[in-house]
Amino acid sequence: MLKYTQLSDPELYHLVREELERQEHNIEMIASESTESEEVLELSGCVFANKTTEGYPGARFQAGSQVADKMERLGIQRAKDVFGADHVNLQPYSGSTANYGVYAAVLKPGDTVLGMKLDHGGHLTHGSPSNFTSKFYNFVSYGLNGDTALIDYEELERLAREHRPKLVIAGGSAYPRLIDYERVARAAHFVGGLSMVDMAHVAGLVAAKVIPSPIPHADFVTSSTTKTFCGPRGGMVLCKARHARALDRGVFPGAISSIHLNIMAAKAWCLKNAATPLFKATMEQVVKNAASLAKELTKHGFRVVSGGTDNHIVLLDLRSKKITGKLFQDALEYVGVTINKNMIPNDPEKPSVTSGVRIGTTSVSQRGMKEPEMTDIAGIMNRVAAAPEDKDNLNGCKAEALKMTARFPLYPRGSLD
Ligand SMILES: Cc1ncc(COP(=O)(O)O)c(C=O)c1O
Repeated sequence: MLKYTQLSDPELYHLVREELERQEHNIEMIASESTESEEVLELSGCVFANKTTEGYPGARFQAGSQVADKMERLGIQRAKDVFGADHVNLQPYSGSTANYGVYAAVLKPGDTVLGMKLDHGGHLTHGSPSNFTSKFYNFVSYGLNGDTALIDYEELERLAREHRPKLVIAGGSAYPRLIDYERVARAAHFVGGLSMVDMAHVAGLVAAKVIPSPIPHADFVTSSTTKTFCGPRGGMVLCKARHARALDRGVFPGAISSIHLNIMAAKAWCLKNAATPLFKATMEQVVKNAASLAKELTKHGFRVVSGGTDNHIVLLDLRSKKITGKLFQDALEYVGVTINKNMIPNDPEKPSVTSGVRIGTTSVSQRGMKEPEMTDIAGIMNRVAAAPEDKDNLNGCKAEALKMTARFPLYPRGSLD
């Protein structure tokens, strides 16, 4: 690993090694994380990184783009095949940039957009007051039903009729349930607007056909290529044929400049990999593991927001355990289980403290962990929650977590040694 850097910059080399060791010996359960394959790591650092190109295959602004053209076309074709999309743009630098590309394609400053509230599970780029999008566009937010913690579709429809948004966004960062994409699209179209689904979190599950796809319903579907998609730090947008020209202009020159071709190559590899039986089996296990973890945690007296999960996310309300998200996150970090504090709907705590945590099962499933390990992890979480400041308790849990990671190597092919 990093054979040249090891010689020219040992200090940096050792930091990378240290991070590899951290990941190897931790149970990584941050819902937006997954483990990039050796191929994704290789391609992310390949010589396509040397090439500057802008524009689209066959219509570039720089010479020498013939091979880049072939690679981008290959990736696009693979994405169309995997997702069944009419049109694909693989250029966005991230999930956020993918969203900005759609906004640039279809919105004018001041246009109204309907999106899910951040503290109900939406995303910063869906018009959070702290994101620049809220200054350019008039964002109106819908939330979750207070009893069920499911999207309040009636409220969404009412707000759509009242505000007549140009764009209605579904999808978020901490929503553990399936979304009725058809109903959201209908609400948008009823008032002459467009629908966009941000499937950043669930793209891998959609690609593997483990959960329903938004593609038949939404005008635009945006995504990051990390998270359940298990790819490089990038983004993509899929859309209906009638929006193809607008989307491509929105992404370039609307939102980005030169393409990260090395990352695009890694995306293209993932788009082939997403069609394999192994990827499908992994994604099936991701969902089974999340359901199993939610069930086990419930047995231990945790309150699972919305009563369970349909995807890779388990959102816990910790108030029944009388601890905050921050305390639980920090205690679990000490133990070697990495999760993040997260706002729960109508959270009385501030975002830096929170009453909840968000847990994801992608990385552990990639490592080969299954339902028995989810039972063990739920047990560790329960013991940590019972005495989060008791060092003896935490050290006992830490030893158990370490034993688990030793049984499930992060890179079983050993090629990063
Ligand atoms: C729903 C949603 N959209 C967009 C993003 C942004 O993705 P990225 O971090 O790739 O910019 C995220 C990730 O945090 C997300 O959860």
